[in-house]
Amino acid sequence: MTDLTGREIVLGVTGGIAAYKSAEIVSRLRHLGAHVHVIMTKNATEFVSPLTFQTLSANQVVTDTFAAPEYWNVEHVALAKLAEVFVIAPATANILAKMAAGIADDMLSTTVLATKAPVLVAPAMNTGMWTAAATQENVKTLKARGVQFAGPDSGILACGDTGAGRMSEPEEIVEAIGRILNAKKDLQGSRVLITAGATRERLDPVRFLTNDSSGKMGFALAEAARERGAETTVVCGSVSVAAPEGVRIVKIESARDLLDAMMKEVPEQDIIIQAAAVADYRPEKRCDTKIKKKSGEAMTLTLVENPDVAREVGKIRKAGQVLVGFAAETDHVAANAQDKLKKKNLDMIVANDVTKEGAGFNTDTNIAALITSAGIQEYPLMAKRELADIILDKIVEMREKA
Ligand code: PMT
Repeated sequence: MTDLTGREIVLGVTGGIAAYKSAEIVSRLRHLGAHVHVIMTKNATEFVSPLTFQTLSANQVVTDTFAAPEYWNVEHVALAKLAEVFVIAPATANILAKMAAGIADDMLSTTVLATKAPVLVAPAMNTGMWTAAATQENVKTLKARGVQFAGPDSGILACGDTGAGRMSEPEEIVEAIGRILNAKKDLQGSRVLITAGATRERLDPVRFLTNDSSGKMGFALAEAARERGAETTVVCGSVSVAAPEGVRIVKIESARDLLDAMMKEVPEQDIIIQAAAVADYRPEKRCDTKIKKKSGEAMTLTLVENPDVAREVGKIRKAGQVLVGFAAETDHVAANAQDKLKKKNLDMIVANDVTKEGAGFNTDTNIAALITSAGIQEYPLMAKRELADIILDKIVEMREKA
């Protein structure tokens, strides 16, 4: 578990039923050695007593309830400066709107506006409020300014509705705080290119061949690379999740589009990681109009081989570049991956057995083995985001040794 000894964390608590879960955040942070300073909005004090946070944090809790304006001035600047990370959990639609608009009308909104520390928010609200256009605009604005988000999760909400809006679990929020506080900047000045998502091979204007890739693995790598200071580009096929903020996106559809994009992008890059699921074959013919059904007749589809993009990238690699591929396997995982490592001229291949529960396509987790010419290292089930950092650690280590 992350060591947070002596780290200064300011936790803002706003008025939502999830406020009780924030007591566990304070407790976990204290166990890790952090100093926690809690600011509660007036509404938050209706849900949980300041005494709870005072006892758990062993610090005075700042509330608006009794604060005189002159006290605010000193306190908001002091806490804004003290914070190494500023967390708001739960974050209501109201505080997100105030932050986006720069409104400072209470202790919490005033302090968060003044801070230069990284800000992490854990939204919690009714699904309708979360999906409302105004809230989503505010989220977009805040993300573009570098505010980081933990959640919200989906599930049954306190109001009885089901959907997105539930605050992330305290454990996940504490993990995100640890990641921010211990973020390495070992890719500062490096350019990282990542492929993500599925390719689509068109049959006609409305039909295509594709696969189950969601983009989660590639985006986890992109987010990790960006956080470690890299100038990050994602060549991105079809995906089912939003791309991380702060990375450049180059959209592609087919394997041949991917090849064109990679031939342009690769020469400028230091590290290339290919996590996209690329079709090995495409329909021989693409019809310009919708293929009509011929009743009673079978249809034969002829497929032709696509370029092996990773192999082509391996041919044009420059000295000093690091090339990493993925191998999605269902059998003879290590042997097949080792074969791809050589054939594609890669420095490392990340093998995932996509038949395993929690691994491979469209999951938040993965089970992987990192294979280099030096050997194999196997890893247990873990979040794709965590695996992303392990892959980057290995790449940094390889570059240091080169
Ligand atoms: O996107 P997610 O839902 O998070 O799922 C993640 C993932 C399962 C897609 C990812 O972890 C993964 O395994 N990606 C590689 C999928 C794949 O195409 O594997 P492959 O074994 O067929 O290809 C090996 C390598 O060659 C890959 O780096 C692939 O990008 C590349 N390739 C493959 C075929 C081809 N024609 N051109 C290529 O460049």
